Amino acid sequence: MFDFLKKFGKTVDPDLSFLGADMHSHLLPGIDDGLQELEESVEFIKELQKLGYSKLICTPHILSDFYPNSPGTILPKLAEVRAALAEANVDVKVEAAAEYMIDNDFTELIAGSKKEDLLTIGGDYILVELSYMYPLPNIEKIIFDVRMLGLQPIIAHPERYSYYHNEFSKYERFKELGCKLQVNLLSLSGAYGSQVKKTAEKLFKNQMVDFLGTDMHHQRHLAMLKTLASKQDFYDLVGSAQLLNKTLL
Ligand SMILES: [Fe+2]
Repeated sequence: MFDFLKKFGKTVDPDLSFLGADMHSHLLPGIDDGLQELEESVEFIKELQKLGYSKLICTPHILSDFYPNSPGTILPKLAEVRAALAEANVDVKVEAAAEYMIDNDFTELIAGSKKEDLLTIGGDYILVELSYMYPLPNIEKIIFDVRMLGLQPIIAHPERYSYYHNEFSKYERFKELGCKLQVNLLSLSGAYGSQVKKTAEKLFKNQMVDFLGTDMHHQRHLAMLKTLASKQDFYDLVGSAQLLNKTLL
């Protein structure tokens, strides 16, 4: 029995209530590559509540031609989901922000916006994702410009940018520049490959992780999250981190 547990890891009842709030997900239906139907959104939100969350901040992609979202597309979806949750008597707080891709459109948006025009998390944070292909040469300037608006960038899933895997100092640099780092829960389960998992674990071991997010897109993600949340190893790894999720409640 001992060998069995050692090999497969001890299992426990899933309980993500130590996080309180999720701040990265694609649960608003039909506006990006996440959930598509309103009923699905209600189901997923119920499931996440069962896992222990009491607040879910939904962050649809804002990505030029693919997902040209804005407050005008996102906030009405939030209202729809809230109405459906009230109808279904689901008592969980749902808010909306966005996951901004840092590209030329974002640079222009930042140049022409005030803090109030942007979809922020907790008022002072903005969730941003970077190119998956190559490091942006002007990233430090963009971060500086975001900071000048009075916002603190949260770098979405830094462990997923493979070009930084052998340049760990870049993650430290993001912190020096005033960014927060948000690791995906599913990176810890190997959903994005072994190098991503290794980097996520290293970020935890170096006490560099500020937020954990589900980055929930679809059914497979939900199933994997439940599996991860039933492993004692997961709680052992993240238990001592100074996570800020609860500050968003
Ligand atoms: Fe995302």
